[in-house]
Amino acid sequence: MTPLLAELSAIAAKAFVAEGFLETLGFVQRSDRPDLAQFQCNGALSAAKPARLSPRAVADRIASRLRAVSIFSKVEIAGPGFINLDVRDEVLLARLLAFTADKNLGAPRTGESKTAILDFGGPNVAKPMHVGHLRSAIIGDSLQRIFRANGWTVISDVHLGDWGLQMGQLISEIGHRGLASVYFDRDFSGPYPAESPVSMSDLEDIYPAASAACKSDPSRLEEARLATAELQAGRAGYRALWQHFVNVSEQGLTREYGSLGICFDLWKGEASVEPLIGPMIADLKARGLATESEGALILPIDEPGDRKELPPLILLKSDGAVLYGTTDLATIMDRVRSYHPELILYVVDQRQHTHFEQVFRAARKASYTGNITELEHAGFGTMNGPDGKPFKTRAGGVMKLYDLITMATEEAEKRLSEAGFARDYPEDEGKEIARKVGIAALKFADLSNHRVSDYVFDLTRFTRFEGKTGPYLQYACVRMRSILAKAAEAGPAPEMRVILSTPAERALILQLLMLPSAMAGAEHNRAPNILCDYVFTLAQIFNRFYTEHHIMSEKDEGVRSSRLALVRLTLSVLTKGLNLLGIEVPDRM
Ligand code: ARG
Repeated sequence: MTPLLAELSAIAAKAFVAEGFLETLGFVQRSDRPDLAQFQCNGALSAAKPARLSPRAVADRIASRLRAVSIFSKVEIAGPGFINLDVRDEVLLARLLAFTADKNLGAPRTGESKTAILDFGGPNVAKPMHVGHLRSAIIGDSLQRIFRANGWTVISDVHLGDWGLQMGQLISEIGHRGLASVYFDRDFSGPYPAESPVSMSDLEDIYPAASAACKSDPSRLEEARLATAELQAGRAGYRALWQHFVNVSEQGLTREYGSLGICFDLWKGEASVEPLIGPMIADLKARGLATESEGALILPIDEPGDRKELPPLILLKSDGAVLYGTTDLATIMDRVRSYHPELILYVVDQRQHTHFEQVFRAARKASYTGNITELEHAGFGTMNGPDGKPFKTRAGGVMKLYDLITMATEEAEKRLSEAGFARDYPEDEGKEIARKVGIAALKFADLSNHRVSDYVFDLTRFTRFEGKTGPYLQYACVRMRSILAKAAEAGPAPEMRVILSTPAERALILQLLMLPSAMAGAEHNRAPNILCDYVFTLAQIFNRFYTEHHIMSEKDEGVRSSRLALVRLTLSVLTKGLNLLGIEVPDRM
């Protein structure tokens, strides 16, 4: 099923082409003035100038072609040359029937037989997560849901930061503390203990100490560098210790992401491409792409015509240690070989833009992308505290995901009790509702801004039941559910037969039919906020429908069952939209 907007655009595009204009001018969108029309096409305005015609003259020609197409009940020219369009009710109803019958609710199959690797999350082993990792996880998870729903085969990879300097810092700090001495004994030939000598909470304590020591004492930094290089070069005790850090962190992270409902297909990390790095370096050297510079090995990636200077990608430092860009480059090679993806999408902080530009150029230069793989960085801005700086906890420390979820749950509990919701429910259920509401508040607030904009963390606002929030939308679903439950008590569910006779019904049907277009737009722009706008508008339009119409008290049986069918469909569409944002709806509130 082609999304309605795409179908209307195709019709308009044909008209433009028939008049000798570009096809792309036929782009049709929802009208900015829903009181005047359902849809609009602004192509005549851009077509006019190069053709030395007035926009209205172009609009006239296009409009007269569109009037001949039976799908439209109205084709009008407005203002300087906008074309306003309405679709016939019968067409809307026929589409609604097909939409309802489709188990995918008309999802655009843009990803049919295509594979995308989504790289998001990206926490660093042993280091506490920060808001950037939270945003990456929330946005990345929503994108993986949207891509999958649109037919893509998605492979998500958390891509742990597990091969950098922080590893050497931890190792040398543990050495200083005299913990776990077998791992430092060069004569020990193994096997090393299966049990980790450090727990997650030990790591939470050791890492900040290690990093502080390296900041204040250059000799400690040097030690950490050396330990990193030795680890990467394969020193057995260090590798064994490192494996424990990774295992312990992974357990903690799986739990933390799990509590947000976020799953990854792959738990790979920077280190997983370690065996590929030697051969890759040899290959880059042999082909003359990598060169020595001041003891380091670099890959220049600047191109003629660059507006700003792009530094080369550093492959090896003078001590032989590999860097972030080296593992990212090898990871591209690995992913292309193993999965032949059409797309590798990185959902990572916008501040890493230059890094990705360097890595992508290097990959293309070395022909590691094959001929189908596109590389793309979908960057995002920061979540700031009220002071305008990246959000920190009250104690000023870096945020822990667990604490953040607790904060949001507590705030949600307050809001729920103010609203008189979940009052006499069993305690467990009340807690579970608060958790779902708290997480919905966090996720929706994050996703509803375009990903590149920064936004301010404001739990009080995020958890409100009024306005554009996650809790508002959850409540809308719960209310629809209770309407349907009451109806079910009164009698068996009627057949899906929709009668369209009022403006509020028409508006609701139109908005329901826009789901596939919203899904397509969110995928195309890597922008879940398009879906946030969609679900919010749907809930508002539903409210109008609900306020203006009788449902259960409607006398006419046909009309009553038609309205109930619309409630049921709105509930499925809203639930589906929220699911694509990673938001769960409680059964009741
Ligand atoms: N670990 C990185 C960080 O904390 C993010 C990793 C993103 N993914 C990647 N392939 N570089 O900034």
